[in-house]
Amino acid sequence: MCCPSPISVAMSTEADAVGQTFDILERKKPSDLTLEHWIASWEKQQIGFHLNEVHEMLKRHLDVMLNGRKQIRIFFPLCGKAVDMKWLADQGHTIVGVEISEIAIKQFFTEQNLSYIQEPVPGIPDAEIYKTPEGHITLFRGNIFDFSSSVAGQFDGIWDRGSLQPLNTSDRQRYSKLMITLMAKGCRYLLDTYVCTKTDFDGLPPKISESETRDLFGHACNIHLLDSTDKLTGKQKLFGLEGFIEEVHLITLKSD
Ligand SMILES: C[S@@+](CC[C@H](N)C(=O)[O-])C[C@H]1O[C@@H](n2cnc3c(N)ncnc32)[C@H](O)[C@@H]1O
Repeated sequence: MCCPSPISVAMSTEADAVGQTFDILERKKPSDLTLEHWIASWEKQQIGFHLNEVHEMLKRHLDVMLNGRKQIRIFFPLCGKAVDMKWLADQGHTIVGVEISEIAIKQFFTEQNLSYIQEPVPGIPDAEIYKTPEGHITLFRGNIFDFSSSVAGQFDGIWDRGSLQPLNTSDRQRYSKLMITLMAKGCRYLLDTYVCTKTDFDGLPPKISESETRDLFGHACNIHLLDSTDKLTGKQKLFGLEGFIEEVHLITLKSD
């Protein structure tokens, strides 16, 4: 059988063992991950990473993030239109997200039946705020690297799924430094990543390892592996992967 083209073929969506769908491997090169790539993906609705259900790892580990706290401020970097944001807002938490695509943000509010107010972001010309009238969900349309604690303060929790990992590897250090500045005292940051065990896999999501996570955050944070679940299916094997492990790390400030 002929192999798929190395650049253009994306994995089709399949149900995983617990009935959620995910579609995250692509034979694109990590260097293709420009802002233009993401904006075009939303225009073409090539958003196989999007889940229509609340992420199983967030549900499983939410108590660890909350740590007994109620009504906390939770940050969603590179948020897409993750339904998790509405799920957490409905539980009384305040949600802030950042997303480059206007289409993603508008689809989020429309699909979740939420009205929104649109405002400019003081000091960032190429960005806008979209927020519910009550302010429980605020999404910034703009580049995460234009975002800082002076725009929306610091956070008690961070849910990072498909945020650190899809960034170009050259941007990861800048990203982890930014995330650390956004962590309030007591912040509990859940980082969800896929570890692909095949050394020459050069597709998406870009490779990330336990040691890279430790290098990125370890100087300022404690890092604790909460979950490591085998997600290898026939689809990943088609891509030549020998292992495909979903990991969730809890990241907390050493200064806490
Ligand atoms: C892999 S998707 C994950 C979305 C979401 N976290 C989820 O779980 O469904 C990455 C998202 O980040 C957005 N994005 C990529 N680079 C960005 C950047 N530099 N600033 C803001 N958003 C960005 C993309 O448009 C895309 O929606």
